[in-house]
Amino acid sequence: MRIDLLTLFPEMCESVLSTSIIGRARKAGLLDIRCHQIREHSQSRQKRVDDAPYGGGMGMVMQAEPIYQCAMQVCEPLKPTPHMIYMSPQGKPLTQKRALELSKMEHIVVICGHYEGVDERLLEEIVDEEISIGDYVLTGGELAGLVLIDAIGRLCDGVLSDQSCFEEESHFNGLLEYPQYTRPPVWHDKTVPQVLVTGHHKNIETWRRHKSLERTLDKRPDMLKHAPLTKEDLAYLEEYQNQKQGSET
Ligand code: ADE
Repeated sequence: MRIDLLTLFPEMCESVLSTSIIGRARKAGLLDIRCHQIREHSQSRQKRVDDAPYGGGMGMVMQAEPIYQCAMQVCEPLKPTPHMIYMSPQGKPLTQKRALELSKMEHIVVICGHYEGVDERLLEEIVDEEISIGDYVLTGGELAGLVLIDAIGRLCDGVLSDQSCFEEESHFNGLLEYPQYTRPPVWHDKTVPQVLVTGHHKNIETWRRHKSLERTLDKRPDMLKHAPLTKEDLAYLEEYQNQKQGSET
């Protein structure tokens, strides 16, 4: 998959994207990620990319033209044109489902804004989708763009060593993941749940499903409304809730 990141801070992004799993995937040729400096496309002598907002108000606004020229340098030679994403607190909240869909695309472009935002006309002209990483405001789109690329990149074929790495983890199946344990078997007087050391795969699978259901109910009950649950899951949740209520009284 190819991802182009348009930013005023390519060095910062490059450093994050050269690290760990995403960095290794790039070296292995599994991900083609390129960071571009928007400022290089400014027509002004001082390489300005921002100006005061029309109508007055605080802060500066990023001008449309440098971002447009930067995007055109990436996209113009390409057919079909890549999917254009603008990182914004006004965008649709990023979900695991959307990350998976985007990971199936051949090519995306991620635009990171700064200051008080970018000229609206640029968004109208070239952006296909706005994505937010949460209901809070960052100083720029870079951290959000990096979060998006990490979430997408790890889902691309071959990036994680084992497909089940993400099939079992939180949010993939609409539930939170079960708890994990590793050596030593006793740590600070705490033991590993007995079932995990039996080697009995069916019992381990059932235990993990039950823990996933318990955790989702305890930590993110809102997720249960949309999770695909079996009759057994629903029966277990009822039993667990009754048990909890019993222990509280
Ligand atoms: N830029 C600034 N804040 C953001 C957020 N929460 N999500 C995406 N992009 C942003």
